Amino acid sequence: MPLALDIRFAGLDAPLAPVAVLTIADGPAFSAAGKALDQRSGNALSRAAEAADFKGKAKASIEVLAAPKIEPKRVVLFGVGSAPKEQDRLNLGGALYAAVSGCKADTVSVIADADGIDSARDAADLAFGALLRSYTFKLYQTKKPDADSASSNGLNTLVIHTAKPEQATAAFQALRGIADGVAMARDLVNEPANVLGPVEFANRLAGLSIDGLDVEILDEPALHRLKMGALIGVAQGSARPPRIAILHWNGAKSKRTKPVCIVGKGVTFDTGGISIKPAGGMEDMKGDMGGAACVAGLMIALAKRKAPVNAVGLVGLVENMPSGTAQRPGDIVTSMSGQTIEIINTDAEGRLVLADVLWYAEDRFKPRAMINLATLTGAIMVALGKEHAGLFSNNDKLAADLVEAGRETGELVWRMPLAKAYDKLIDSRFADMKNTGGRFGGAITAAQFIQRFVRDVPWAHLDVAGVAMDSNKSDINSSWGSGWGVRLLDRLIADQYE
Ligand code: BES
Ligand code: MN
Ligand code: ZN
Repeated sequence: MPLALDIRFAGLDAPLAPVAVLTIADGPAFSAAGKALDQRSGNALSRAAEAADFKGKAKASIEVLAAPKIEPKRVVLFGVGSAPKEQDRLNLGGALYAAVSGCKADTVSVIADADGIDSARDAADLAFGALLRSYTFKLYQTKKPDADSASSNGLNTLVIHTAKPEQATAAFQALRGIADGVAMARDLVNEPANVLGPVEFANRLAGLSIDGLDVEILDEPALHRLKMGALIGVAQGSARPPRIAILHWNGAKSKRTKPVCIVGKGVTFDTGGISIKPAGGMEDMKGDMGGAACVAGLMIALAKRKAPVNAVGLVGLVENMPSGTAQRPGDIVTSMSGQTIEIINTDAEGRLVLADVLWYAEDRFKPRAMINLATLTGAIMVALGKEHAGLFSNNDKLAADLVEAGRETGELVWRMPLAKAYDKLIDSRFADMKNTGGRFGGAITAAQFIQRFVRDVPWAHLDVAGVAMDSNKSDINSSWGSGWGVRLLDRLIADQYE
Protein backbone atom coordinates (compact mmCIF):
# COMPACT_ATOMS: atom_id res chain seq x y z
CA MET A 1 0.00 0.00 0.00
CA PRO A 2 1.33 3.47 -0.74
CA LEU A 3 2.86 5.27 2.21
CA ALA A 4 0.08 7.29 3.79
CA LEU A 5 2.20 9.65 5.88
CA ASP A 6 2.55 13.16 4.53
CA ILE A 7 5.82 14.86 5.50
CA ARG A 8 6.32 18.62 5.48
CA PHE A 9 9.09 20.88 6.67
CA ALA A 10 8.53 24.25 8.33
CA GLY A 11 10.62 26.87 10.10
CA LEU A 12 11.28 26.80 13.83
CA ASP A 13 9.01 29.80 14.33
CA ALA A 14 6.02 28.32 12.45
CA PRO A 15 2.93 27.55 14.59
CA LEU A 16 2.83 24.14 16.26
CA ALA A 17 0.11 21.49 16.05
CA PRO A 18 -1.78 20.46 19.25
CA VAL A 19 0.62 17.52 19.55
CA ALA A 20 4.31 18.43 19.34
CA VAL A 21 7.49 16.43 19.75
CA LEU A 22 10.45 18.27 21.21
CA THR A 23 13.80 16.67 20.43
CA ILE A 24 16.23 16.80 23.35
CA ALA A 25 19.88 15.77 23.33
CA ASP A 26 21.61 13.74 26.01
CA GLY A 27 21.82 15.64 29.28
CA PRO A 28 18.99 16.54 29.03
CA ALA A 29 20.15 19.38 26.78
CA PHE A 30 17.18 21.44 25.63
CA SER A 31 17.58 23.07 22.22
CA ALA A 32 17.14 26.80 21.66
CA ALA A 33 13.56 26.31 20.48
CA GLY A 34 13.00 23.90 23.36
CA LYS A 35 14.23 26.41 25.93
CA ALA A 36 11.95 29.09 24.50
CA LEU A 37 8.93 26.77 24.64
CA ASP A 38 9.86 25.71 28.17
CA GLN A 39 10.10 29.32 29.32
CA ARG A 40 6.76 30.23 27.83
CA SER A 41 5.21 27.32 29.74
CA GLY A 42 6.65 28.57 33.02
CA ASN A 43 9.28 25.81 32.92
CA ALA A 44 6.63 23.09 32.93
CA LEU A 45 8.62 21.06 30.39
CA SER A 46 11.96 21.06 32.18
CA ARG A 47 10.22 20.36 35.51
CA ALA A 48 8.43 17.40 33.98
CA ALA A 49 11.74 16.14 32.59
CA GLU A 50 13.30 16.38 36.00
CA ALA A 51 10.36 14.75 37.76
CA ALA A 52 10.45 11.83 35.34
CA ASP A 53 14.24 11.58 35.43
CA PHE A 54 14.24 12.11 31.69
CA LYS A 55 17.82 12.54 30.46
CA GLY A 56 17.42 12.76 26.70
CA LYS A 57 18.81 9.27 26.04
CA ALA A 58 18.17 8.07 22.49
CA LYS A 59 14.51 7.08 21.96
CA ALA A 60 13.47 7.77 25.57
CA SER A 61 10.29 9.83 25.76
CA ILE A 62 7.83 11.34 28.20
CA GLU A 63 4.62 13.23 27.58
CA VAL A 64 3.74 16.53 29.13
CA LEU A 65 0.01 17.21 29.05
CA ALA A 66 -1.69 20.57 29.25
CA ALA A 67 1.38 22.59 30.12
CA PRO A 68 0.30 26.19 30.83
CA LYS A 69 0.37 29.00 28.26
CA ILE A 70 1.70 27.10 25.29
CA GLU A 71 -0.16 26.10 22.17
CA PRO A 72 0.45 22.31 22.05
CA LYS A 73 -1.81 20.51 24.51
CA ARG A 74 0.52 17.61 24.45
CA VAL A 75 4.30 17.86 24.25
CA VAL A 76 6.37 14.73 23.82
CA LEU A 77 9.92 15.18 25.07
CA PHE A 78 11.92 12.87 22.85
CA GLY A 79 15.56 11.97 23.51
CA VAL A 80 18.00 11.87 20.61
CA GLY A 81 21.09 10.84 22.61
CA SER A 82 24.41 12.32 21.58
CA ALA A 83 25.91 12.71 18.10
CA PRO A 84 23.56 10.36 16.25
CA LYS A 85 24.99 8.96 13.01
CA GLU A 86 22.98 8.56 9.81
CA GLN A 87 21.53 5.17 10.75
CA ASP A 88 20.79 6.42 14.28
CA ARG A 89 18.85 9.34 12.84
CA LEU A 90 16.68 7.01 10.75
CA ASN A 91 16.06 4.87 13.83
CA LEU A 92 15.21 7.97 15.87
CA GLY A 93 12.70 9.01 13.22
CA GLY A 94 11.13 5.57 13.29
CA ALA A 95 10.95 5.41 17.08
CA LEU A 96 9.57 8.93 17.15
CA TYR A 97 6.82 7.96 14.74
CA ALA A 98 5.97 4.94 16.88
CA ALA A 99 5.82 7.15 19.99
CA VAL A 100 3.18 9.45 18.50
CA SER A 101 1.31 7.30 15.98
CA GLY A 102 -1.14 6.14 18.64
CA CYS A 103 -2.40 9.58 19.58
CA LYS A 104 -5.60 10.74 18.01
CA ALA A 105 -4.15 13.67 16.12
CA ASP A 106 -3.97 13.88 12.36
CA THR A 107 -0.98 16.25 12.45
CA VAL A 108 2.05 16.17 14.73
CA SER A 109 4.79 18.81 14.87
CA VAL A 110 8.40 17.77 15.45
CA ILE A 111 10.81 20.42 16.66
CA ALA A 112 14.11 19.20 15.25
CA ASP A 113 16.78 21.53 16.52
CA ALA A 114 18.40 19.50 19.31
CA ASP A 115 22.14 19.00 19.05
CA GLY A 116 22.97 16.33 16.47
CA ILE A 117 19.58 16.48 14.77
CA ASP A 118 19.58 20.14 13.76
CA SER A 119 20.79 20.27 10.15
CA ALA A 120 18.58 20.06 7.07
CA ARG A 121 20.10 16.65 6.32
CA ASP A 122 19.33 15.48 9.86
CA ALA A 123 15.71 16.60 9.55
CA ALA A 124 15.39 14.73 6.25
CA ASP A 125 16.86 11.56 7.80
CA LEU A 126 14.45 11.80 10.72
CA ALA A 127 11.56 12.12 8.27
CA PHE A 128 12.85 9.18 6.22
CA GLY A 129 12.94 6.93 9.29
CA ALA A 130 9.44 7.98 10.30
CA LEU A 131 8.11 7.36 6.81
CA LEU A 132 9.64 3.88 6.64
CA ARG A 133 8.18 3.02 10.05
CA SER A 134 4.73 4.28 9.06
CA TYR A 135 4.36 1.49 6.50
CA THR A 136 1.56 -0.98 7.22
CA PHE A 137 -0.02 -3.72 5.16
CA LYS A 138 -3.70 -3.97 6.02
CA LEU A 139 -5.18 -4.64 2.62
CA TYR A 140 -6.98 -7.75 3.78
CA GLN A 141 -8.07 -6.63 7.23
CA THR A 142 -11.58 -5.43 6.64
CA LYS A 143 -12.48 -4.46 10.20
CA LYS A 144 -11.20 -1.00 11.00
CA PRO A 145 -10.03 -0.74 14.65
CA ASP A 146 -12.03 1.61 16.94
CA ALA A 147 -13.93 3.17 14.09
CA ASP A 148 -16.49 4.53 16.57
CA SER A 149 -14.23 6.25 19.08
CA ALA A 150 -11.91 8.13 16.76
CA SER A 151 -12.95 11.48 15.41
CA SER A 152 -9.95 11.40 13.09
CA ASN A 153 -8.38 8.56 11.15
CA GLY A 154 -5.12 8.88 13.04
CA LEU A 155 -1.80 10.47 12.27
CA ASN A 156 -1.39 11.40 8.64
CA THR A 157 0.94 14.42 8.63
CA LEU A 158 4.29 15.09 10.25
CA VAL A 159 5.51 18.67 10.16
CA ILE A 160 9.22 18.80 10.87
CA HIS A 161 10.32 22.17 12.19
CA THR A 162 13.90 22.89 11.28
CA ALA A 163 16.19 25.88 10.75
CA LYS A 164 16.37 25.43 6.98
CA PRO A 165 13.07 23.93 5.82
CA GLU A 166 13.70 24.50 2.09
CA GLN A 167 17.00 22.65 2.26
CA ALA A 168 15.38 19.85 4.22
CA THR A 169 12.59 19.59 1.65
CA ALA A 170 15.20 19.29 -1.12
CA ALA A 171 17.24 16.70 0.80
CA PHE A 172 14.11 14.70 1.51
CA GLN A 173 13.00 14.45 -2.10
CA ALA A 174 15.41 11.64 -2.97
CA LEU A 175 14.67 9.86 0.32
CA ARG A 176 10.95 9.96 -0.42
CA GLY A 177 11.68 8.15 -3.70
CA ILE A 178 13.70 5.51 -1.88
CA ALA A 179 10.93 5.07 0.68
CA ASP A 180 8.45 4.50 -2.16
CA GLY A 181 10.74 1.78 -3.47
CA VAL A 182 11.01 0.13 -0.06
CA ALA A 183 7.22 0.26 0.36
CA MET A 184 6.72 -1.39 -3.04
CA ALA A 185 9.19 -4.15 -2.14
CA ARG A 186 7.38 -4.75 1.17
CA ASP A 187 3.99 -4.83 -0.56
CA LEU A 188 5.15 -7.42 -3.07
CA VAL A 189 6.53 -9.66 -0.32
CA ASN A 190 3.45 -9.29 1.89
CA GLU A 191 0.92 -10.07 -0.87
CA PRO A 192 -0.39 -13.63 -0.79
CA ALA A 193 0.48 -15.90 -3.69
CA ASN A 194 -3.13 -16.34 -4.84
CA VAL A 195 -3.15 -12.61 -5.58
CA LEU A 196 0.45 -12.31 -6.80
CA GLY A 197 1.56 -14.99 -9.24
CA PRO A 198 4.19 -14.53 -11.95
CA VAL A 199 1.79 -12.84 -14.36
CA GLU A 200 0.33 -10.55 -11.71
CA PHE A 201 3.80 -9.58 -10.52
CA ALA A 202 4.82 -8.73 -14.07
CA ASN A 203 1.59 -6.81 -14.65
CA ARG A 204 2.12 -4.78 -11.52
CA LEU A 205 5.48 -3.68 -12.84
CA ALA A 206 4.12 -3.02 -16.31
CA GLY A 207 1.48 -0.76 -14.77
CA LEU A 208 3.93 1.39 -12.81
CA SER A 209 4.21 4.34 -15.22
CA ILE A 210 7.09 6.14 -13.55
CA ASP A 211 8.86 8.77 -15.64
CA GLY A 212 11.80 7.22 -17.50
CA LEU A 213 11.37 3.72 -16.10
CA ASP A 214 10.69 1.40 -19.03
CA VAL A 215 9.20 -2.03 -18.41
CA GLU A 216 9.60 -4.97 -20.75
CA ILE A 217 7.91 -8.33 -20.19
CA LEU A 218 9.08 -11.64 -21.67
CA ASP A 219 6.17 -14.07 -21.90
CA GLU A 220 6.32 -17.84 -22.05
CA PRO A 221 6.85 -18.17 -25.83
CA ALA A 222 9.70 -15.65 -25.57
CA LEU A 223 11.32 -17.70 -22.80
CA HIS A 224 11.00 -20.82 -24.99
CA ARG A 225 12.60 -19.02 -27.92
CA LEU A 226 15.49 -18.06 -25.64
CA LYS A 227 15.80 -21.75 -24.68
CA MET A 228 15.59 -21.05 -20.97
CA GLY A 229 15.13 -24.70 -20.07
CA ALA A 230 16.17 -24.30 -16.43
CA LEU A 231 13.63 -21.58 -15.63
CA ILE A 232 10.88 -23.23 -17.67
CA GLY A 233 11.48 -26.55 -15.93
CA VAL A 234 10.62 -24.96 -12.58
CA ALA A 235 7.49 -23.31 -13.95
CA GLN A 236 6.13 -26.38 -15.74
CA GLY A 237 4.34 -27.81 -12.70
CA SER A 238 2.25 -24.69 -12.24
CA ALA A 239 -0.96 -23.71 -14.00
CA ARG A 240 0.43 -20.19 -14.02
CA PRO A 241 2.95 -19.38 -16.76
CA PRO A 242 6.38 -17.84 -16.04
CA ARG A 243 7.52 -14.34 -16.93
CA ILE A 244 10.68 -12.31 -16.91
CA ALA A 245 10.22 -8.62 -16.24
CA ILE A 246 12.96 -6.18 -17.22
CA LEU A 247 13.10 -2.66 -15.84
CA HIS A 248 15.27 -0.17 -17.73
CA TRP A 249 16.50 3.03 -16.19
CA ASN A 250 18.83 5.21 -18.27
CA GLY A 251 19.77 8.12 -16.07
CA ALA A 252 23.44 8.45 -17.06
CA LYS A 253 24.56 11.23 -19.41
CA SER A 254 25.04 8.73 -22.20
CA LYS A 255 22.57 5.99 -23.00
CA ARG A 256 25.56 3.90 -24.04
CA THR A 257 27.26 3.80 -20.66
CA LYS A 258 27.29 0.15 -19.63
CA PRO A 259 24.57 -0.55 -17.09
CA VAL A 260 24.63 -2.18 -13.71
CA CYS A 261 22.39 -5.26 -13.78
CA ILE A 262 20.39 -6.28 -10.74
CA VAL A 263 18.73 -9.70 -10.91
CA GLY A 264 16.10 -11.10 -8.57
CA LYS A 265 14.69 -14.53 -7.74
CA GLY A 266 10.94 -14.23 -8.11
CA VAL A 267 9.41 -17.53 -7.01
CA THR A 268 5.93 -16.26 -6.19
CA PHE A 269 5.28 -19.44 -4.23
CA ASP A 270 7.65 -22.28 -3.42
CA THR A 271 5.95 -25.53 -2.43
CA GLY A 272 9.19 -27.35 -3.16
CA GLY A 273 7.56 -29.04 -6.17
CA ILE A 274 7.66 -32.85 -6.23
CA SER A 275 10.32 -32.68 -3.49
CA ILE A 276 7.53 -31.06 -1.51
CA LYS A 277 8.19 -29.07 1.64
CA PRO A 278 6.68 -29.99 5.02
CA ALA A 279 3.43 -28.17 5.88
CA GLY A 280 4.73 -26.24 8.89
CA GLY A 281 5.59 -22.69 7.90
CA MET A 282 5.03 -23.30 4.20
CA GLU A 283 2.82 -20.18 4.08
CA ASP A 284 6.02 -18.15 4.38
CA MET A 285 6.98 -19.27 0.90
CA LYS A 286 4.78 -16.53 -0.54
CA GLY A 287 7.84 -14.43 0.24
CA ASP A 288 10.15 -16.45 -2.00
CA MET A 289 10.12 -13.54 -4.42
CA GLY A 290 11.87 -11.24 -1.92
CA GLY A 291 14.86 -10.85 -4.24
CA ALA A 292 12.64 -9.82 -7.12
CA ALA A 293 10.71 -7.45 -4.86
CA CYS A 294 13.96 -5.75 -3.92
CA VAL A 295 14.92 -5.36 -7.58
CA ALA A 296 11.54 -3.76 -8.31
CA GLY A 297 11.82 -1.45 -5.30
CA LEU A 298 15.37 -0.46 -6.18
CA MET A 299 14.48 0.44 -9.76
CA ILE A 300 11.58 2.56 -8.50
CA ALA A 301 13.93 4.31 -6.08
CA LEU A 302 16.49 5.01 -8.83
CA ALA A 303 13.84 6.37 -11.18
CA LYS A 304 12.11 8.50 -8.55
CA ARG A 305 15.32 10.12 -7.41
CA LYS A 306 16.48 10.42 -11.02
CA ALA A 307 19.76 8.65 -10.30
CA PRO A 308 22.48 9.53 -12.85
CA VAL A 309 23.21 5.90 -13.68
CA ASN A 310 22.19 3.29 -16.21
CA ALA A 311 20.67 0.27 -14.52
CA VAL A 312 18.69 -2.75 -15.62
CA GLY A 313 16.61 -4.78 -13.19
CA LEU A 314 15.61 -8.30 -14.21
CA VAL A 315 13.31 -10.62 -12.30
CA GLY A 316 12.63 -14.28 -13.06
CA LEU A 317 9.02 -15.01 -12.09
CA VAL A 318 7.76 -18.58 -11.61
CA GLU A 319 5.60 -20.62 -9.27
CA ASN A 320 7.09 -23.90 -8.00
CA MET A 321 4.24 -26.43 -7.78
CA PRO A 322 3.87 -30.23 -7.73
CA SER A 323 1.52 -31.62 -10.37
CA GLY A 324 1.26 -34.10 -13.21
CA THR A 325 3.27 -31.74 -15.36
CA ALA A 326 5.88 -30.89 -12.72
CA GLN A 327 9.52 -31.74 -13.24
CA ARG A 328 10.88 -34.79 -11.42
CA PRO A 329 14.03 -35.54 -9.50
CA GLY A 330 16.35 -37.12 -12.04
CA ASP A 331 15.14 -34.96 -14.91
CA ILE A 332 17.87 -33.29 -16.95
CA VAL A 333 17.22 -29.81 -18.31
CA THR A 334 19.26 -27.69 -20.70
CA SER A 335 19.81 -24.10 -19.62
CA MET A 336 20.05 -21.13 -21.96
CA SER A 337 23.85 -21.30 -21.58
CA GLY A 338 23.79 -24.81 -23.11
CA GLN A 339 24.94 -26.37 -19.85
CA THR A 340 22.84 -29.30 -18.68
CA ILE A 341 21.51 -29.74 -15.16
CA GLU A 342 20.41 -32.89 -13.38
CA ILE A 343 17.55 -32.09 -11.02
CA ILE A 344 18.23 -33.83 -7.71
CA ASN A 345 15.78 -31.85 -5.62
CA THR A 346 12.96 -29.82 -7.16
CA ASP A 347 13.02 -27.59 -4.07
CA ALA A 348 16.39 -26.19 -5.14
CA GLU A 349 14.53 -24.16 -7.76
CA GLY A 350 15.76 -20.62 -7.20
CA ARG A 351 19.19 -21.35 -8.60
CA LEU A 352 17.58 -22.81 -11.73
CA VAL A 353 15.67 -19.60 -12.32
CA LEU A 354 18.73 -17.45 -11.67
CA ALA A 355 20.88 -19.59 -13.99
CA ASP A 356 18.90 -18.49 -17.02
CA VAL A 357 18.20 -14.92 -15.99
CA LEU A 358 21.86 -14.23 -15.10
CA TRP A 359 23.07 -15.77 -18.36
CA TYR A 360 20.57 -13.70 -20.32
CA ALA A 361 21.42 -10.48 -18.45
CA GLU A 362 25.16 -10.76 -19.10
CA ASP A 363 24.59 -11.85 -22.69
CA ARG A 364 22.30 -8.99 -23.58
CA PHE A 365 23.46 -6.06 -21.44
CA LYS A 366 27.23 -6.65 -21.01
CA PRO A 367 26.96 -5.02 -17.58
CA ARG A 368 29.70 -3.22 -15.62
CA ALA A 369 28.61 -5.26 -12.64
CA MET A 370 25.90 -7.78 -11.95
CA ILE A 371 24.31 -8.33 -8.55
CA ASN A 372 21.60 -10.85 -7.78
CA LEU A 373 19.37 -11.20 -4.75
CA ALA A 374 17.61 -14.42 -3.84
CA THR A 375 15.84 -16.06 -0.90
CA LEU A 376 17.98 -18.98 -1.93
CA THR A 377 18.74 -21.27 1.00
CA GLY A 378 17.69 -22.14 4.51
CA ALA A 379 21.38 -22.88 5.05
CA ILE A 380 22.29 -19.18 4.98
CA MET A 381 20.05 -18.68 8.02
CA VAL A 382 21.80 -21.53 9.81
CA ALA A 383 25.10 -19.78 9.11
CA LEU A 384 24.24 -16.11 9.67
CA GLY A 385 20.87 -15.96 11.38
CA LYS A 386 18.76 -12.96 10.52
CA GLU A 387 21.43 -10.34 11.17
CA HIS A 388 23.33 -10.48 7.89
CA ALA A 389 22.57 -11.47 4.32
CA GLY A 390 25.12 -13.84 2.79
CA LEU A 391 27.42 -12.24 0.24
CA PHE A 392 29.25 -14.27 -2.40
CA SER A 393 31.35 -12.57 -5.04
CA ASN A 394 34.00 -13.18 -7.68
CA ASN A 395 35.35 -9.66 -7.15
CA ASP A 396 37.00 -8.30 -3.98
CA LYS A 397 36.28 -4.64 -4.79
CA LEU A 398 32.57 -5.24 -5.38
CA ALA A 399 32.39 -7.33 -2.22
CA ALA A 400 34.10 -4.63 -0.16
CA ASP A 401 31.83 -1.96 -1.64
CA LEU A 402 28.78 -3.98 -0.64
CA VAL A 403 30.06 -4.51 2.89
CA GLU A 404 30.66 -0.77 3.15
CA ALA A 405 27.19 0.15 1.81
CA GLY A 406 25.80 -2.33 4.32
CA ARG A 407 27.51 -0.57 7.22
CA GLU A 408 26.22 2.79 6.01
CA THR A 409 22.61 1.69 5.64
CA GLY A 410 22.38 -0.90 8.40
CA GLU A 411 21.46 -3.55 5.82
CA LEU A 412 24.37 -5.79 6.74
CA VAL A 413 26.06 -8.38 4.54
CA TRP A 414 28.68 -10.96 5.48
CA ARG A 415 31.05 -12.39 2.89
CA MET A 416 31.07 -16.15 2.43
CA PRO A 417 33.62 -18.21 0.48
CA LEU A 418 33.59 -19.53 -3.05
CA ALA A 419 36.18 -22.16 -4.08
CA LYS A 420 36.88 -24.99 -6.54
CA ALA A 421 36.54 -27.60 -3.79
CA TYR A 422 32.94 -26.51 -3.18
CA ASP A 423 32.26 -26.31 -6.88
CA LYS A 424 33.21 -29.99 -7.31
CA LEU A 425 30.32 -30.94 -5.04
CA ILE A 426 27.79 -30.10 -7.75
CA ASP A 427 29.36 -32.19 -10.51
CA SER A 428 26.85 -34.76 -11.80
CA ARG A 429 27.16 -38.33 -13.03
CA PHE A 430 24.69 -37.69 -15.84
CA ALA A 431 24.79 -33.99 -16.71
CA ASP A 432 27.17 -31.02 -16.52
CA MET A 433 26.05 -30.36 -12.97
CA LYS A 434 23.39 -31.21 -10.44
CA ASN A 435 21.20 -28.73 -8.64
CA THR A 436 22.13 -29.64 -5.06
CA GLY A 437 25.47 -30.33 -3.42
CA GLY A 438 24.61 -32.46 -0.42
CA ARG A 439 24.17 -31.66 3.25
CA PHE A 440 27.18 -29.49 4.00
CA GLY A 441 27.77 -25.88 2.95
CA GLY A 442 24.33 -25.59 1.38
CA ALA A 443 24.44 -21.82 0.89
CA ILE A 444 27.90 -22.10 -0.67
CA THR A 445 27.11 -24.89 -3.12
CA ALA A 446 24.03 -22.90 -4.17
CA ALA A 447 26.29 -19.92 -4.86
CA GLN A 448 28.75 -22.14 -6.76
CA PHE A 449 25.88 -23.31 -8.91
CA ILE A 450 24.88 -19.78 -9.81
CA GLN A 451 28.48 -18.83 -10.52
CA ARG A 452 28.57 -21.39 -13.32
CA PHE A 453 26.21 -19.08 -15.20
CA VAL A 454 28.35 -15.95 -14.76
CA ARG A 455 31.21 -15.30 -17.17
CA ASP A 456 33.58 -12.30 -17.02
CA VAL A 457 31.60 -9.70 -15.15
CA PRO A 458 32.15 -8.53 -11.56
CA TRP A 459 29.31 -10.34 -9.85
CA ALA A 460 27.84 -10.64 -6.38
CA HIS A 461 25.13 -12.91 -5.06
CA LEU A 462 23.17 -11.94 -1.95
CA ASP A 463 21.36 -14.78 -0.21
CA VAL A 464 18.54 -12.88 1.49
CA ALA A 465 16.49 -15.80 2.85
CA GLY A 466 16.98 -14.56 6.43
CA VAL A 467 16.40 -10.87 5.87
CA ALA A 468 13.80 -10.36 3.14
CA MET A 469 10.83 -11.76 5.02
CA ASP A 470 9.89 -12.41 8.62
CA SER A 471 13.04 -10.51 9.49
CA ASN A 472 13.87 -8.83 12.77
CA LYS A 473 11.53 -5.95 13.51
CA SER A 474 13.33 -2.64 13.82
CA ASP A 475 12.72 1.03 14.46
CA ILE A 476 12.20 1.57 10.75
CA ASN A 477 10.28 -1.58 9.93
CA SER A 478 7.37 -3.31 11.61
CA SER A 479 6.25 -5.29 8.56
CA TRP A 480 6.74 -8.98 7.71
CA GLY A 481 8.08 -8.10 4.30
CA SER A 482 11.08 -5.92 5.08
CA GLY A 483 12.00 -4.38 1.73
CA TRP A 484 15.55 -5.39 2.62
CA GLY A 485 18.20 -4.42 0.08
CA VAL A 486 16.56 -1.42 -1.56
CA ARG A 487 18.47 1.04 0.60
CA LEU A 488 21.64 -1.09 0.43
CA LEU A 489 21.79 -1.24 -3.35
CA ASP A 490 20.61 2.31 -3.80
CA ARG A 491 23.58 3.37 -1.65
CA LEU A 492 26.01 1.07 -3.47
CA ILE A 493 24.94 2.57 -6.78
CA ALA A 494 25.07 6.15 -5.48
CA ASP A 495 28.56 5.64 -4.03
CA GLN A 496 30.15 3.56 -6.79
CA TYR A 497 28.34 3.89 -10.11
CA GLU A 498 26.95 7.43 -10.34
N1 BES B 1 13.10 -20.73 -1.00
C1 BES B 1 13.88 -21.74 -0.39
C2 BES B 1 14.85 -21.20 0.66
C3 BES B 1 14.21 -20.53 1.86
C4 BES B 1 13.93 -21.28 2.99
C5 BES B 1 13.95 -19.19 1.85
C6 BES B 1 13.35 -20.66 4.09
C7 BES B 1 13.39 -18.58 2.94
C8 BES B 1 13.08 -19.31 4.06
C9 BES B 1 14.68 -22.50 -1.44
O1 BES B 1 14.07 -22.60 -2.68
C10 BES B 1 14.87 -23.88 -0.93
O2 BES B 1 13.91 -24.57 -0.81
N2 BES B 1 16.11 -24.24 -0.64
C11 BES B 1 16.42 -25.53 -0.15
C12 BES B 1 17.57 -26.07 -0.95
C13 BES B 1 17.84 -27.53 -0.75
C14 BES B 1 16.72 -28.34 -1.33
C15 BES B 1 19.14 -27.88 -1.41
C16 BES B 1 16.77 -25.41 1.32
O3 BES B 1 17.34 -24.39 1.71
O4 BES B 1 16.42 -26.30 2.08
MN1 MN C 1 12.78 -24.26 -2.81
ZN1 ZN D 1 12.72 -21.12 -3.15
